[in-house]
Amino acid sequence: MVMMKAIVYNKKALPYRLVYSDVDQPIPNDDELLIQVQAVSLNAADYRSLKLGIIPQKKIFGADIVGIVESVGKNIHAYKPGDQLIGNLAEYGFGGLAEYALAPERLVTAKPVNCSVAEAATLPMAGQTALQALRNKGEIKPGDDVLIIGSGGGVGSYAVQLAKFFGARVTAVCSPKNVEQARWLGADDVVDYTTDNFLTDKRSYDLIVAINGNYSLLACKRILRPGGRYVMVGGALTQVFKAILFGRLLSFGTKKIRSLAEKTTVTDLEFIAQLANDKKIKPVVETCYPLEQAPEAMHYLAEGHCKGKIVITID
Ligand SMILES: NC(=O)c1ccc[n+]([C@@H]2O[C@H](COP(=O)([O-])OP(=O)(O)OC[C@H]3O[C@@H](n4cnc5c(N)ncnc54)[C@H](OP(=O)(O)O)[C@@H]3O)[C@@H](O)[C@H]2O)c1
Repeated sequence: MVMMKAIVYNKKALPYRLVYSDVDQPIPNDDELLIQVQAVSLNAADYRSLKLGIIPQKKIFGADIVGIVESVGKNIHAYKPGDQLIGNLAEYGFGGLAEYALAPERLVTAKPVNCSVAEAATLPMAGQTALQALRNKGEIKPGDDVLIIGSGGGVGSYAVQLAKFFGARVTAVCSPKNVEQARWLGADDVVDYTTDNFLTDKRSYDLIVAINGNYSLLACKRILRPGGRYVMVGGALTQVFKAILFGRLLSFGTKKIRSLAEKTTVTDLEFIAQLANDKKIKPVVETCYPLEQAPEAMHYLAEGHCKGKIVITID
């Protein structure tokens, strides 16, 4: 059996329950690609699942990968060894925090050539989440006034840029350390939530994207204009569940309260990759860590105040 390095879940390995270990290198079946992973960006999906005890079957977290195809199953025709790809493995049991990972064709696309490996690793989940929140659930239109609550992190940094790409006027909500970043990403107005209250400042919006949804749903609904849409993306689990449970009830009248469950599609992955390749959106990488430091990196991300994305690079 060929061995590889990976970050493996171990319940007893405190404090992080993640250990840099030697494990068997996976073997692709007929419908899988074996990818030599070059970088992985971390997502809330990683630390949330870890906290909730939802452990991937192979005990290896990491969804957003960039890597080089090592070998392909006999039913794979779109890619060949040597191709450099990006992909989101969250719907395929994770497995990215390792030297090699398996992926099906439907969750990968070509790496944008104009992005570095670390930049490309930030694209799949955060980029698609922002896109699907704004376009699918948010029905964004040119000229819309859009409020992005939680513009500082992975999803937020893409949401600000994509909303501008779609022709909206953007107000970003973040902490002081992310104010400059929000402006640099194109936000027209920035609200520092430690000093200002966007719920009471008398402004209203066509679309609210709640990436940090820890604000009252009713108060958010009040600042929506008639016909406005509120899209719950993330935040505390209680608030996310409230939006799922009561969204329909609160959507009486013309204002709509919706929740997003991001789903990878090759079309959306290609769309995001193309925008990054054309420099229409800019990946924001706060820090790159080597694979062995992934547990500390995950711990840092879980504190909830990163700037853009945290990336793990693998030699
Ligand atoms: N629905 C879906 O399908 C889906 C998909 C992906 C992610 N998510 C969820 O989306 C959320 C964000 O994901 P992410 O990857 O962007 O996380 P992240 O990179 O950790 O970013 C979270 C951001 O929230 C901001 N924040 C913290 N407290 C805030 C507050 N009180 N008000 C406004 N902003 C605040 C932080 O910025 P500051 O430092 O500026 O406060 C931080 O940058 C998570 O809850 C995740 O579970 C949902």
